[in-house]
Amino acid sequence: VNDFRRDGHALVDLLADHLDAMSRREGPVLPSARPDELVQRYSDALSSPTDLMSLARAVLADSNHLHHPRYVGHQVTAPLPATALLAMMGHLLNNSMAVYEMGPASTAMERVSLRWMADKLGFPAGSDGVLTSGGSLGNLTALLVARAAARAQHGERPLAIVTSKQTHYCVARAAAIMGLGEEGFVPVAVDERFRLDPADLSRALDEVERRGRAPLAIVASACSTATGAFDPIGPIADIAAARGVWLHVDGAHGASAAIAKRYKHLVAGIERADSVVWDAHKMLLVPALVTGVLFRDGRRSYTAFSQAAAYLFDGDDAGRRWFDVGMRTVECTKRMASLELYGALALEGEAALGAYVERMFDLAKAFADEIAAAPDFELATPPDCNIVCFRHVPPGVADLDALQTRIREAIVTSGEYYLVMTTLPTGVYLRVTVISPGTTRDDLTGLLETVRSALTPGPSPPGGEGRNLVRRDASE
Ligand SMILES: Cc1ncc(COP(=O)(O)O)c(C=O)c1O
Repeated sequence: VNDFRRDGHALVDLLADHLDAMSRREGPVLPSARPDELVQRYSDALSSPTDLMSLARAVLADSNHLHHPRYVGHQVTAPLPATALLAMMGHLLNNSMAVYEMGPASTAMERVSLRWMADKLGFPAGSDGVLTSGGSLGNLTALLVARAAARAQHGERPLAIVTSKQTHYCVARAAAIMGLGEEGFVPVAVDERFRLDPADLSRALDEVERRGRAPLAIVASACSTATGAFDPIGPIADIAAARGVWLHVDGAHGASAAIAKRYKHLVAGIERADSVVWDAHKMLLVPALVTGVLFRDGRRSYTAFSQAAAYLFDGDDAGRRWFDVGMRTVECTKRMASLELYGALALEGEAALGAYVERMFDLAKAFADEIAAAPDFELATPPDCNIVCFRHVPPGVADLDALQTRIREAIVTSGEYYLVMTTLPTGVYLRVTVISPGTTRDDLTGLLETVRSALTPGPSPPGGEGRNLVRRDASE
């Protein structure tokens, strides 16, 4: 216990110093090291004993620094430090959550957090759900429930998921896991702003019928991963209702718009969805992974996993003890993720979280305006939220795709910014998610300057001595 107390204090000091350094924009965002070098180094280090602080310092130095205001990469937030402390507490207590007795406080916090999410989405009193580990697992969970509903409707007829070409790949993975086959995934066209085209949705649903299948679900994105486009949920819900098809909204990133006064219109109609996935680790300032899976009809949340496990669930109401959360998820042992989400709500409050979402969306819009006004930059599309895709188009460059790749590599290697890339039908684009709470307008303006000068030889920026040869794109 004495070691724990000593190391705990030292570790918090180290991390507090790190947060201070980040606010001063010190050091590289992503330290540069080749994967094989790093594996070798960590492997070699095992041959001699170390202490916790030496290990912690090494990990800190070798990690991607999401609290750096110039982290504008994948959609993972820089958590509120207090929620990281709560996460540490959760890891120590290690309550495993499948049954109430194995996590009484975390079960209570999960129930309250889900109720809050459901209310924010505009779901009715009978709605319910579960927290699970990530949007991918959350979408699978919701789609398993949708499949149970489709089976009840259509018997053994083969099923198909209908969704836009821009939907996150985890939906196709869910289809593969459910064994739907290639015919079981029918893509819908998007408009020029990458939003699902409702007219083509009707065609796709007809296509499902022609293939002798029945629709398992329509999946709308709020928003899409690559460009942050919000599908028009209202018109999609009209089609789903007219045809009696389950509507699932993947709000992993963008459901948080529901708490931002000036942006909640982006998710108008989400209350009509049968199920919604909402990642708290994307836009609610909590550590990964915390995902809400919500069902408008809360009773549905049991229907994917009705296997009996008498040793765990010896309850009433056909085993449906609402307080045993393991009845509703793929997971059995599950970490106390509710502690961080509930903690963010309890410590910061909904208004502060909503203000953070608004500020990130506002910054991205201002950044996009700046890009649109610069003749040597091209915006892929005006952003709906805090994801911006753009490219540098200086005169006289034949291969613009290769240019973006080289620019990104140079910037990430220098450690000045961390940004990613995506490939759209019109080519390769640099991709920014404004998500780190410390990011300012100047950081974003500075990024354009950094892009312009990335391939011009000049003095080495901080942390620029390494090489980063790993290609990263927007496939989180
Ligand atoms: C729209 C969308 N859905 C699902 C996911 C997957 O979520 P997770 O990484 O939490 O599994 C992402 C990740 O970026 C996403 O953007």
